[in-house]
Amino acid sequence: MLLKTVLLLALVAQVLMLENGLLRKPPMGWLAWERFRCNIDCDEDPKNCISERLFMEMADRLAQDGWRDLGYVYLNIDDCWIGGRDAKGNLMPDPKRFPHGIAFLADYAHSLGLKLGIYEDLGSFTCMGYPGTTLDKVVQDAQTFAEWKVDMLKLDGCFSTHKERAEGYPKMAAALNATGRPIAFSCSWPAYEGGLPPRVNYSLLADICNLWRNYDDIQDSWWSVLSILDWFVAHQDILQPVAGPGHWNDPDMLLIGNFGLSFEQAQSQMALWTVLAAPLFMSTDLRTISAQNVDILQNTLMIKINQDPLGIQGRRVLKEKSFIDVFMRPLANEACALVFFSRRTDMPYRYHCSLGRLNFTAPECMRPRTSTRATSSVASTLQPTSR
Ligand SMILES: *[C@@H]1O[C@H](CO)[C@@H](O)[C@H](O)[C@H]1NC(C)=O
Ligand SMILES: *[C@@H]1O[C@H](CO)[C@@H](O)[C@H](O)[C@H]1NC(C)=O
Ligand SMILES: *[C@@H]1O[C@H](CO)[C@@H](O)[C@H](O)[C@H]1NC(C)=O
Repeated sequence: MLLKTVLLLALVAQVLMLENGLLRKPPMGWLAWERFRCNIDCDEDPKNCISERLFMEMADRLAQDGWRDLGYVYLNIDDCWIGGRDAKGNLMPDPKRFPHGIAFLADYAHSLGLKLGIYEDLGSFTCMGYPGTTLDKVVQDAQTFAEWKVDMLKLDGCFSTHKERAEGYPKMAAALNATGRPIAFSCSWPAYEGGLPPRVNYSLLADICNLWRNYDDIQDSWWSVLSILDWFVAHQDILQPVAGPGHWNDPDMLLIGNFGLSFEQAQSQMALWTVLAAPLFMSTDLRTISAQNVDILQNTLMIKINQDPLGIQGRRVLKEKSFIDVFMRPLANEACALVFFSRRTDMPYRYHCSLGRLNFTAPECMRPRTSTRATSSVASTLQPTSR
């Protein structure tokens, strides 16, 4: 019994530490995965394979094409960068694809006013089968990332057990903190536990992680966007209150600029992710993106709303029989963002709604309480507005 108490105390002491001051607003940047996956074939496809060339070219675009100045500062590596471990057990990048090493890439990003994010997996292997961070390697790998001057770590959860995750994620948070380098911590932990209490303890997550993936990976399709949206809305009573400055729900990357969404669907994802206070990680080829898609992603009103200093996640407040969903997000200075989201598949629809119905009875924005369940159907048009 005494031993049990001591162990419990030790666990609690280890856990009460993350207020690293980072990500007071949802992070914005570029993440390789959705668009470039695990393409490691640099012989056949040198321009698009996961390599330092790809990240340097995206860094150049972020810096030169207006992205960085709008807030898209993270340049994030995902899976498939690891070459192995050296004799001392230190992680090494693939020597052929990252010949100058990760520290070089971090310096390059920093020289352009960007930040570098890296990826590992709390388990024996990463999801694509590269060496993972087992419990005995947590401290060593955190130190390696800090030495390389990395600014964010996404820690995935493939090939790990429930018990290993329960120990490993808090341990990594403590190890990152102990390096003394501010490193934002993105945890895939809840996605591996079904995303909901009691298996997921969101107050613990908010203590140790700056953002977390709650649910499935996004794929390049509208169906995938809707399935993620539906899950977030169905569980908004749980998820909405746990987000805030320094700790965000992450519905995964923006698909805008890729192959699966129409123009209106791309606008819709931007508006929905904005009202949900989601991280804005693009995952598209910034070298070839169309002007239309640039306009969506560089919409300064969207970015301003997404980055609102109060950091309150929006909610769906109305679900109409006409297949119009209304989302609302309270903002600073008594402002409020509304998204009118059409799930209709017939034609543009004239929707009427009074401010009274949306409970704008006081001059300040009220936080309405509704929680109906979402049903899935197809397509979109939308008019994001704010007042
Ligand atoms: C480590 O944690 C302490 C206590 O929460 C905090 O004040 C400090 O800023 C953190 N340091 C880093 C590098 O995250
Ligand atoms: C969740 O974690 C917090 C520590 O952040 C702890 O105080 C609380 O008891 C935990 N809740 C449950 C239900 O385990
Ligand atoms: C407006 O407030 C009423 C009463 O509190 C509530 O039942 C209703 O769901 C709210 N409507 C919206 C759109 O928030």
